[in-house]
Amino acid sequence: MTDTSFGPKGWTPARLGNLAGKTYVITGANAGAGFQAARILLSKGAKVVMLNRSAEKSAAAVKELKQEFGSSAEVSFVRMDLAEQASVRAAAEEVLKIVPRIDALICNAAIAQVPTRQLTPDGFESQLGTNHYGHFTLCSMLFDRIEQSKGRIVVVASLGYNMGLKTIRFDDMNWDESYGANTAYSQSKLAQMMFAYELQDRLAAAGRTDVEVFVCHPGSSATSLISTSGSRTMRVIWWLMTKTPMVQTAEQGSYPEVMCATEEALTEQRALYGPTGTREFVGPVGRGTLNAHAYDKKVMVRLWERSETDTGFSWSL
Ligand SMILES: NC(=O)c1ccc[n+]([C@@H]2O[C@H](COP(=O)([O-])OP(=O)(O)OC[C@H]3O[C@@H](n4cnc5c(N)ncnc54)[C@H](OP(=O)(O)O)[C@@H]3O)[C@@H](O)[C@H]2O)c1
Repeated sequence: MTDTSFGPKGWTPARLGNLAGKTYVITGANAGAGFQAARILLSKGAKVVMLNRSAEKSAAAVKELKQEFGSSAEVSFVRMDLAEQASVRAAAEEVLKIVPRIDALICNAAIAQVPTRQLTPDGFESQLGTNHYGHFTLCSMLFDRIEQSKGRIVVVASLGYNMGLKTIRFDDMNWDESYGANTAYSQSKLAQMMFAYELQDRLAAAGRTDVEVFVCHPGSSATSLISTSGSRTMRVIWWLMTKTPMVQTAEQGSYPEVMCATEEALTEQRALYGPTGTREFVGPVGRGTLNAHAYDKKVMVRLWERSETDTGFSWSL
C-alpha cells in the first residue's frame, strides 16, 4: 500500500516544527526506537519523560541526550517495570505528580520472542503481561491527564499481529498449553492494537473527542529487541537480517511513533501507520495496511472486559 500523503519520501522529522512547551511520555525510551524518538523530540525543544525499567540504563540515556542537546535539555525518567502492575501504578502516580501535561503518551516498550514461557509477578505470560496489560493500566491511569492536555495515545504495534492465531485465545491467554515465542508475542501485539481500536470506539461513543489514539509500527528496525529477549537462534537470524536491505535503522523505526505523536495532518485513527516500502518492513512512512482481524469488534470488547478483570483496573469509559 503506497501512501503519498507526505510525498515520495513519506513522513520524516523534517515536518516537525518547534515543540517547545510540549511534553511526551515514552515507555522504554533508553534504547531502540523509543530512544530515537526521544532524541528527535528533544531536538525540537520538547520535554521528554521516559518510563524505563532500568535506572542504570536510563541514567546513561539521559547523560547521552544531555551531551547531545545540552544540560538544559528537558529529559528525565521515572522508573517503571511494565511487567509489574504495582510498578506501573506507582510510576503513573509519580507521573501525575510531576508531569502537568501530556501531549502524547507513546506506548513503545516491549519484550519479544521470549523463548520459554515465563510469567510476570502478577501471573501473566510475560509478553502479554508486559506489552498489553502493563500499557493497559498505564493508559487508564494517565488518561485524564492526557484528555486535559488534548493529547494523544500512540500504541507501537508490530506486523506480528498478522502472524500466530490472529485472535485472542481467551480460554488460555497465558499459554499454559502449546507456548510458542512468536505466537505469544504476536498475540500480545494484537492485544495492544485491539485495546487502541476499542478505546477509539469507546471515546467516540462517549463523545470524548479530545484524545486521539493512533497505532503504528516501526517495520523492521535494527534495535535491541531481539538481543534483549530472543533466543540465541533468533538473535543469529536477526543479526543476519540486519545485514540486508530488509532492515532499517532504529532512527527510521522511530519515525512512525514520532509522526503519530505530533503530526497535525494525521486524521484517520482507525489505521496502522508505518513504513510503506517492501513488505511494509522498510521505506517511506505513511498509512499502511490494516487487516480486519485487528478490529474484530466481538474480540475487542471481550479483551477489554477481560483486561479490566485481570488488571483490576476499570476505565470510566
Ligand atoms: N525492532 C523491530 O523490528 C520491531 C518490529 C516490530 C515491532 N517493534 C516494536 O517496537 C517497539 C520498540 O521496540 P524496539 O525494537 O525499539 O526494541 P528495544 O530496542 O529492545 O527497546 C525496547 C524498550 O522497551 C523496554 N522494556 C522492555 N521491557 C520493559 C519493561 N518490563 N518495563 C519497561 N520497559 C521495558 C526496554 O528496556 P531495556 O533496555 O531495559 O530492555 C527498551 O527500552 C516495541 O513495541 C516492539 O514491539 C519493533
